[in-house]
Amino acid sequence: MTDIIDKLQADLSEGRFLHSLGVAETARDLALRFGCDPEKAYLAGLLHDCATKYSNTEMLALALSEGLCDRDAVIDNPTAEFHAPLGAVVAKNEFGITDGEILNAIALHQTGDVPMTRLEIIVGLADAIEPSRKADKINAIREIAKTDLTRAYLEKCKLYMTNIISAGNPLDPKRVEVYNYILTLKQGFKP
Ligand SMILES: [Fe+2]
Ligand SMILES: [Fe+2]
Repeated sequence: MTDIIDKLQADLSEGRFLHSLGVAETARDLALRFGCDPEKAYLAGLLHDCATKYSNTEMLALALSEGLCDRDAVIDNPTAEFHAPLGAVVAKNEFGITDGEILNAIALHQTGDVPMTRLEIIVGLADAIEPSRKADKINAIREIAKTDLTRAYLEKCKLYMTNIISAGNPLDPKRVEVYNYILTLKQGFKP
């Protein structure tokens, strides 16, 4: 684990590294609270943003080589668009992570997917509520996360969609799909 942390610290900006440590610790706490593997949660949280070591140009080249987009695609912000799925690629190729559950949790930390595992929900939520995130609305989600994982994740989905719409940015349909799916989990199904 020390090797992974040292490499991550060397790879990432200081801010991103501290955020990653916060996500790792928050994910481990959530895993202990909601019955999930704390070590997997810690590792997925630690590495969730590991692909951000690459520049936009490198990220786009990597996305092309991994078949995540076409050569003629117009991508305004390759880091925002691809760092989550490419995080799984980097975690595997450069950090030696082979556990598919951890790699999926990294790949899905930004938009989520349908269906989602508990580990995936935990890492996606930890990304939003780790200690360095400061906002009243985040505090409210942090409170909910003390007792209700699914509702906390639902509130994260709502907040992020609202922020994206308020900023005038296009909303990935996947986010709507995930929101509707989490809503059904709230109505009785459990991940
Ligand atoms: Fe991220
Ligand atoms: Fe993050």
